[in-house]
Amino acid sequence: MRLSSFALFFLTAGVYMSSECFHTEIIGGREVQPHSRPFMASIQYRGSHICGGVLIHPQWVLTAAHCYNWFPRGHSPTVVLGAHSLSKNEPTKQTFEIKKFIPFSRSPSGYSSHDIMLIKLHTAAELNKHVKLLQLRSKNYLRDGTKCQVTGWGATNPDQLKSSDTLQEVTVSIISRKRCNSQSYYNRNPVITRDMICAGDAKGQKDSCQGDSGGPLVCKGVFHAIVSGGLKCGIANKPGIYTLLTKKYQSWIKSKLAPSRAK
Ligand code: ARG
Repeated sequence: MRLSSFALFFLTAGVYMSSECFHTEIIGGREVQPHSRPFMASIQYRGSHICGGVLIHPQWVLTAAHCYNWFPRGHSPTVVLGAHSLSKNEPTKQTFEIKKFIPFSRSPSGYSSHDIMLIKLHTAAELNKHVKLLQLRSKNYLRDGTKCQVTGWGATNPDQLKSSDTLQEVTVSIISRKRCNSQSYYNRNPVITRDMICAGDAKGQKDSCQGDSGGPLVCKGVFHAIVSGGLKCGIANKPGIYTLLTKKYQSWIKSKLAPSRAK
């Protein structure tokens, strides 16, 4: 019941994009030094940014599974690497068609609990100064209060239904699963499972938002989690919800990326 209502949130997110996440801007975020986060991918549909992603292999991008619901049928999304400004014609940009989407779970209601997806690019990216991989590492205990950075082209202006043109980043703090499930936070609606973690700001002034989904949460230089959801944006006791890169997900990724597998 609770899980399905969370799933419903994601499924309707595409339809209600205008109302769900745009109320609060990403306060406290700032523009990153151009090309200082060379692993960032922008997943686009007809030239509009839809979700973030992370280049983990020259031909593979990791993102959130619910992003898939936001691609209307009939026109294939693309992945842009090496970008800083989405609108500018930057020579560092590499644009790719998508060969396949591999969500962790194919069940349509499973996105809330397994909100992670691999995207295989049509051809391998050329790695250079502006396009680099972000390595997955297996350790992932995160203590309450750990400071992490979340990066993306998500909404920064509550009055305009559009992504940020330039890449932004904000520092948020880990909120333990226990605290995030407590009555004063999400009250187990949705349930924050062992595959998820919350991160936010005590005053609610720092958060990820619409369009940041699929992007990375990096703590002390280690890629720990992926932007997944949250109720609106920037509300103190409704922090961002992230898909934790657990051992389970890491071995799934390894199995899909293994060259011997045609999957
Ligand atoms: N669902 C949003 C997206 O797909 C991410 C929302 C994050 N919300 C938050 N409060 N941190 O881009």
